[in-house]
Amino acid sequence: MIRRDFLKSIGAISAGAALGMPAAGAILPAPLVLPDDAESLNDLELGLRSLRPQTDRQISVVIIGAGNRGNTYARFAKMFPENMKIVGVSDIRELRKTRMGDAHDIPAEHRFGDWSEVFKVPKFADAVVISTPDDLHFAPCMKALSMGYDVLLEKPVAQTEKECKAIREQAHKYNRIVAVCHVLRYAPYFIALKQLVKSGAVGELVSIQHMEPIQYAHMAHSYVRGNWRDSKETTPIILAKSCHDLDIIRWIVDSPCKSIVADGSLHLFKPENAPEGAPLKCTDGCPHEKNCPYSAIDIYTRKKWHLGVFDLAGNHDSDFIMQRLLTPPYDSYARCVYHCDNDQPDHYVSEMVFEGGQTAAFSMEAFAPYGGRRTRIMGTTGYIEGDGTQFTLWDFRTLKPKVWNRKVSEIPEYKGSGHGGGDLCLVRDWIEAVAAHDDSKLSSTIDVSIESHVMGFAAERSRKSGRKEKV
Ligand SMILES: NC(=O)c1ccc[n+]([C@@H]2O[C@H](COP(=O)([O-])OP(=O)(O)OC[C@H]3O[C@@H](n4cnc5c(N)ncnc54)[C@H](O)[C@@H]3O)[C@@H](O)[C@H]2O)c1
Repeated sequence: MIRRDFLKSIGAISAGAALGMPAAGAILPAPLVLPDDAESLNDLELGLRSLRPQTDRQISVVIIGAGNRGNTYARFAKMFPENMKIVGVSDIRELRKTRMGDAHDIPAEHRFGDWSEVFKVPKFADAVVISTPDDLHFAPCMKALSMGYDVLLEKPVAQTEKECKAIREQAHKYNRIVAVCHVLRYAPYFIALKQLVKSGAVGELVSIQHMEPIQYAHMAHSYVRGNWRDSKETTPIILAKSCHDLDIIRWIVDSPCKSIVADGSLHLFKPENAPEGAPLKCTDGCPHEKNCPYSAIDIYTRKKWHLGVFDLAGNHDSDFIMQRLLTPPYDSYARCVYHCDNDQPDHYVSEMVFEGGQTAAFSMEAFAPYGGRRTRIMGTTGYIEGDGTQFTLWDFRTLKPKVWNRKVSEIPEYKGSGHGGGDLCLVRDWIEAVAAHDDSKLSSTIDVSIESHVMGFAAERSRKSGRKEKV
């Protein structure tokens, strides 16, 4: 249907002037030029459907790890209570456990501390969400599967290739569903991109340039001061941050990856780069605080970014945030970016070759003022360029740009769904898959998700060895 509609729409347009073609070559994103008379691809409705699950069943769920992601997914139960009910919670932080417990009327006997306590009682739900830190995915997932729970598993799947494969085997052994939270696959933007390429809109796909600008303050927050700063405690940044990107590239290319070569390093955030006299914390009277773009005081109390980690319960008063920055355990976010125990690279490039001969260049960059993935797709008869919310397609025969720019965040039921709507679309598809016991309803099954993880592990080996790695 989509291919036919699309080809029909190509046939209907006349050859026009080449409008707004971006400069070719550099991987840095040229700003997207959207001419007023660009044709719209929005009526193709690529990638958009209601969030309401297509099932009559109510799936009962235990949230393991009631932090940022656990709450994101639990929100779905409030939107569609007839399809999802939170019946248990586990979190070692009393405050988070109680908040989730109270919000969903969870009985006291199903409010647990450590994840292992969930599995000391007989199975009492259909499924579990595993949204604990990266080093606590493998053990709870293996245990949950062995007890017959279906799983929604946060990425990265596990910390080693061996563990990833063991989870896949366990899922097969117990015939359970494991959906990996590769949320971008569920975002209407990326679904539209994928479907358009699949429809032949650019002819034969030849290569992709993809860039993930982390954004400078996000880098400081998560990968210098925060939970993912240490690659050994969590996973290398190519998995911790960019497994989504490898996954999306692999998905769009639609051919197995043959080899990968990577490079990159930690350039800035280390002690030798600290300005003279910088104390260990920004809150210790740092003389550079006013001019430093990475100042914790600026990022949290003035700009009020990334406040989710401070358990503020809605109180965003600057003095209150400052109090948090001075109080353990939150004071780790007050650390000077040059005095943290971090080792994740702040720039990371990799090149992939696929079995069909296609190539992809991927670049993860800390030093950008914005987030939002930039993608360029080169095919034999066309080209697509997108910025994470909208994309433009050029067909070489007409050079008339066509634009997909559905405002997903303005669709009432999608409001507040992170990752361009992907977060809640993932939960919808997972609920449908669990209800029907059919993982073909998912695009991120454990089997396909492992593949892009293997690419990530190979990239990290290549970065360290300087050799091209077979995947
Ligand atoms: N899919 C995505 O796009 C995406 C985005 C961000 C994070 N993540 C991943 O999601 C996971 C959770 O990230 P987050 O941002 O929600 O972190 P978070 O710190 O906000 O939440 C994790 C929660 O797990 C709890 N926890 C820690 N140890 C526990 C234990 N032994 N038993 C039970 N609970 C325990 C913590 O107290 C915390 O509340 C991580 O693996 C992260 O990499 C995925």
